[in-house]
Amino acid sequence: MTTQMAENTAPFDRPPQRTLDGPKAKGLRRTLRLLRLILRPTQYLDDNVRRYGPMFQIGGDSSSPLVYVGDPEVVREIFLLDGTQALSAPTNAVLQVMVGEHSILLLDGAPHQRQRKLLMPPFHGDRLRTYGHLISDITRQVSADWQPGQSLLARPPMQALTLGVILQAVFGWREGARLAELQRLMGTLLDFFATPISASFLFFPALRKDWGAASPWGRFVALRERVRQLIYAEIRDRRADLAQPDVDSHAKTDILTLLLLARDEQGQAMTDAELHDEIVTLLLAGHETTASALVWLLYWIHYLPEVQQKLQAELAALGPQADPMAIAQLPYLTAVCQEALRIYPITPTTFARVLREPITLADYDFAAGTALLPATYIIHQRPDLYPQPREFRPERFLERQYAPHEYLPFGGGHRRCIGSALAMMELKIGIATLLQDFALALPDRRPVLPARRGLTLAPPASMRLQVKSQRHSTPTSNL
Ligand code: HEM
Repeated sequence: MTTQMAENTAPFDRPPQRTLDGPKAKGLRRTLRLLRLILRPTQYLDDNVRRYGPMFQIGGDSSSPLVYVGDPEVVREIFLLDGTQALSAPTNAVLQVMVGEHSILLLDGAPHQRQRKLLMPPFHGDRLRTYGHLISDITRQVSADWQPGQSLLARPPMQALTLGVILQAVFGWREGARLAELQRLMGTLLDFFATPISASFLFFPALRKDWGAASPWGRFVALRERVRQLIYAEIRDRRADLAQPDVDSHAKTDILTLLLLARDEQGQAMTDAELHDEIVTLLLAGHETTASALVWLLYWIHYLPEVQQKLQAELAALGPQADPMAIAQLPYLTAVCQEALRIYPITPTTFARVLREPITLADYDFAAGTALLPATYIIHQRPDLYPQPREFRPERFLERQYAPHEYLPFGGGHRRCIGSALAMMELKIGIATLLQDFALALPDRRPVLPARRGLTLAPPASMRLQVKSQRHSTPTSNL
């Protein structure tokens, strides 16, 4: 099975280097390099790996070095560092315009650990089971008007699906004016990240100039303010509800209620400002990434007919009314999702880890202030871990188990993605529902390459699907 990617000629079999080399440039050349990283991220990484090996360094003479880490042994040791040794907030500060200063993304050390403890329970264990039917229901809602013969852009319905799931999980809403408005506004807010040009103020703070509603930054700030008002209104109403004597707060499973009730080790509740920033973080982190992964899955499954046939056979064996939790456990479907997140990880690196002290990791000496970037894309393309890495071959995940430092689409260590289990459920149940209900095709058979979308990589927004026929539709359940 072959794909469009060029053969990997990266020197992974080189003897290990213990001092790091990398591209050096100043002024205009530095800006051009940044533009290349923004516009052609995978080619930028491939070129550097070819020239310098899987670990390379940027800067370091007058600025603090930034090291792309494509050596799994070094990544293993990075994932063992804690939040007092390695900081992510300094480099995540670029996201503050979106998520606010209290977001978990902008915290390190003890405050970060506290926020993680409060945020993680709704995404694990039995809580997750409650999302199974919700995901298949929302998949059917977003595809309800698909007609045979129709050609449609793949991303908008996948984004509606993941936004619907995270809004329902966070607020417990199924309908209402606030849901409809927030859904619309979040979609528009994310469209700012659809192209490198509209997202340019993220990378170049000098462009953050408010020239009124017609300027990109002015429009962005106005939208962000309206989202803020809606979320604060919901927090206020929910606090008032919970204060009513007859409310059974234990019957509520939405994340906002759980966060309102959560207390840290000192018995402290989250403030409104913290709640707001965490909710925006969950809405953004939880929907943009998963939508991109769903579009990749639609691409690979319809680009490679043998993958689709195997999936259809596995799904057919479960019968037409399969339980979503049984779907989520299917081995080949799981392997297809894992392979889609391997070949083009949604984030080409994890968050950076900025070292507070000098440290030696797997025989490399790093100075204090070095920003280490576990390079997911580079590790996922290593032929020693993934033979023929440019081929989409789900079977590799059935044949061997990968360690957390060898397969890292959700990062690792003390900052590992808190929504990974929910995201995997969305991918598996969303795709299985669509395959059960529709026969789809790619109208354009040309290979698709990743495009920049904000800080992530995604299939280009222009990717289309064709609805060939409708198989059968199951009525949505009454959750
Ligand atoms: C396919 C979908 C997703 C991918 C590929 C993804 C990937 C990632 C990655 C790479 C990180 C950084 C981890 C690190 O630096 O070690 C991260 C962090 C995070 N993700 Fe996800 N994610 C996905 C879905 C979600 C969902 C559904 C949610 C929430 C519902 C979520 C919430 C978060 C949060 C809150 C963090 C920050 C964790 C921290 O700083 O401690 N993500 N994600």
